Formats: sequence, C-alpha cells, structure tokens
Amino acid sequence: MKVLVIGNGGREHSIVWKLSKSPNVEKIYCTIGNAGIFKQAEILNIDASDFISLSYFVIQNKIDYTFVGPEVPLAKGIVDYFHSKNLKIFGPSKKAALLESSKSFAKDFMKNYSIPTAKYFAFDDFKLAQDFLKTCWEDNKKIVVKADGLAAGKGVVMCQNKEEAEIAIKEMMQDKAFGDAGEKIVFEEWLEGEEVSVLSFTDGKSFSIMPPAQDHKRVGDGDTGLNTGGMGAYAPAPIATPELMKNIKADILPKILTGFQKENIDYKGILYIGFMIVKGQPYVLEFNCRFGDPETEVILPLLETDLSDIVVHILEGKLNEIDIKWSNKYAVCVVLSSGGYPEKYDTGIPIYGLDKISEDEAIIFHAGTAKDLENEPLTAGGRVLVLTSVADSIKLAIDKVYKSVEKVKFLKMHYRKDIAQRALKNG
Ligand code: AMP
Ligand code: GLY
Repeated sequence: MKVLVIGNGGREHSIVWKLSKSPNVEKIYCTIGNAGIFKQAEILNIDASDFISLSYFVIQNKIDYTFVGPEVPLAKGIVDYFHSKNLKIFGPSKKAALLESSKSFAKDFMKNYSIPTAKYFAFDDFKLAQDFLKTCWEDNKKIVVKADGLAAGKGVVMCQNKEEAEIAIKEMMQDKAFGDAGEKIVFEEWLEGEEVSVLSFTDGKSFSIMPPAQDHKRVGDGDTGLNTGGMGAYAPAPIATPELMKNIKADILPKILTGFQKENIDYKGILYIGFMIVKGQPYVLEFNCRFGDPETEVILPLLETDLSDIVVHILEGKLNEIDIKWSNKYAVCVVLSSGGYPEKYDTGIPIYGLDKISEDEAIIFHAGTAKDLENEPLTAGGRVLVLTSVADSIKLAIDKVYKSVEKVKFLKMHYRKDIAQRALKNG
C-alpha cells in the first residue's frame, strides 16, 4: 500500500516510523516532513491546507489512504473534501473535529450526553461576559478562561480571581490576542486534580482504548515556567488505575458513542480525551480529534499490532473485527528543545550525537529539525527532538532514556530532568 502522512512534528515522525514497520506498506509520503522523517518517507512540499494539490497528488500517485496528524487541516475540513473526491482518509469530519476546534461545541456535547466535565458558561459578547463575571462569579473564586477556537494550545488562561478573568476576556475578545479564536469565550470552573490523556481508536461505532499517558506541559522541572506543547510523556500512567479505566470504558465512552449517533457525527480516527482526575473521578477537560504530541511518541512504541492494519479496519468501519495488542512494557519520552522555547529561540544550530544512539536504547523522533546540504540535522523549531525508551518498568525506562539524552548535543539545548517522576510517586 501507499500512504500519505500529513504533518511534520514528532507525532508525525512516530506515525511514519510505525507505519514503516508494516509489511503491507510499501511506500510512505509525508508533507512536509523533517530531517528524521525523510529516512522512512518521501518528503513532499505541499501545504497541509492546500487540499486541491494534496488530493491531486493522491490521485496521481494512487495513494491508498491519507493519515492526518495535526488538528488544523481536520478543522478546515480535509476529510470532507477528500470524501467528496472519493479518497480514503483517516481522521474525523469537519463537524466531528468541532469537538476540538470549538470549546463551546465540545462543552455542549458533554452537557447534552451527561459526560462529566467542569461547569461552564459561554459568551460571544464582551459586555455580557463582563457583567457575568461582575454579578455572578464569587470574589476570589478561581476561574479558567478559554478562547473558543483553535489557538495552538495557548488559548487557555488560568485566573486566580475575577479581576484576572476580566483582563483575559479583554485580551481575547477586544484585543484579539488569539485572532478569531477568541471571538467567543468559555468560562470554566477550575478543577483541581491530576491530568491524564486517554486516547482511543474509533470508527464512530466502537472504541479501542490505548494505554493512558501523561505529558508534562510546563517548560521547567517541577512543573514550573511557561506552558509548552509538551516536554515529555510516559505511558501507561499509573494514575489511570484499572478501576478508573473501567469507569471510562463503561460510562464515558458509551455516552460519546450515543452522542456521535444522535448528532450524526462521522468519526473515523483518533479521539484524545484529556481528563482531570478529581478525588478518583474522571472529568473531561478537552477532546482532541487527533493523536497527541508527545503522547504518541510513547504510545506507538507500545503498539504491537500493525498500525496500517488498524487504519484499514477503521476505514472499513470494522474496528471491532481487529484485536489490538499492546506491549506490557513502559515507555518514557523526553523532548529536547531549543533554549528560549516557548518564547524566542535560535534555529539552524547543528545537532550532534544522534548516530551514537541505537534504536534499542532510544527511538529518535525528529520534531523541529531540518537537513543541511550534507543531510546532517539542524535545529528548526522550538521542540527539536523527542527520545523514547521502552523498558520493563517506568524507572528503567527513565534511566535508559536519560542515558541517551546525554549523548545528544546542540547549542542551548534544553530538556526537563524530571520526566515521569510523577509516575514513580503514583505507581
Ligand atoms: P484545554 O485545551 O481545554 O485542555 O486546556 C489546556 C490545559 O489547561 C489543560 O490541559 C489543563 O492543564 C488546563 N485546564 C483546562 N481547563 C481546566 C479546568 N477546568 N480546570 C483546571 N485546569 C484546566
Ligand atoms: N500533548 C497535548 C496535545 O497534543 O494536545
């Protein structure tokens, strides 16, 4: 089979890496790729939002299916466009992708189908939102303010009180800090607890759950500093106890399926549920309609079943006919980032030491990298590389991955030294 993967981060490298291990996949194309992906896939230079050129390429090259990595093309309707051309594509429709691309749509969906979540109030008028804060919100009660649309993970502001919330809505609704994404906002009750990401394969009729993962969003050790796209992850996460997973499977997933059916939602892809565990009970914080980054970099190395086979079953609406097997090992990944990220950082810096790491020690997933004229890697983004090690325990996986991290060098390289330590505490 021939496959096209859309995207160019660590997530897409792990998808390409896994697909390349399938005996049924003879050729992988990736747009736009990076300095690691080109080893397993032919790189194309077509923008992910140029659906016409992408579909033309797929038809010309007789691609069997397209796998969409990031959320933006899904939110823009790439799946609907490909379906209109009779092309096979792995990902949710534009309407289904609203579960990620509109916070208020997702919250209404949760409310309508009794899915546990934080209380919320949505506004598309600044004055009404301001009045709500002044008259309805208790003084000094913490509140979360969210831009309704996609804001690359930056549209959520955690406010200690209503004064901070008022500043946040002003920035979003009046100053347009997140562009159109902030035209509408959602206020949410602030939930205290621990987060876990639970991803599932779905064909819209059933779910197949993956090992639960936990990422580390803050840039600094001990969860300090600014929020990032994610600085590391591990799976399975012991915070998601067998009892909690049973609860999610028996209660929350069936409610989501009912919602899909009642709302006529066509969903063939990955559903990522971000949970906050409050006193042992799962509350849905968010839905993402794609694989997570860096969660995918720890989940796919644990997948024993052929990923392409799973995709083919889902595209045929036969997810329940495939037995998906997971390793009983543990995976830990560490993100190596450019010093300064998530703010200003330099690019074009040579990366050394990758050739000293074997895949048994750590799998090297490239994120923000580019090639120089001799095909040697250079830094090209904030998150540069993701190293994943798999071992019989989280502790062993941590030790293994950090041994490999020490072999990599580039100027101003930064990484967190405490990835997965929380798992040792919970485990
Ligand atoms: P979201 O994109 O909605 O998942 O929000 C991004 C991050 O903000 C989450 O991963 C949480 O760390 C935090 N967050 C969002 N909503 C809440 C909430 N209601 N209570 C506490 N933290 C939240
Ligand atoms: N790791 C968080 C996300 O992919 O949205």
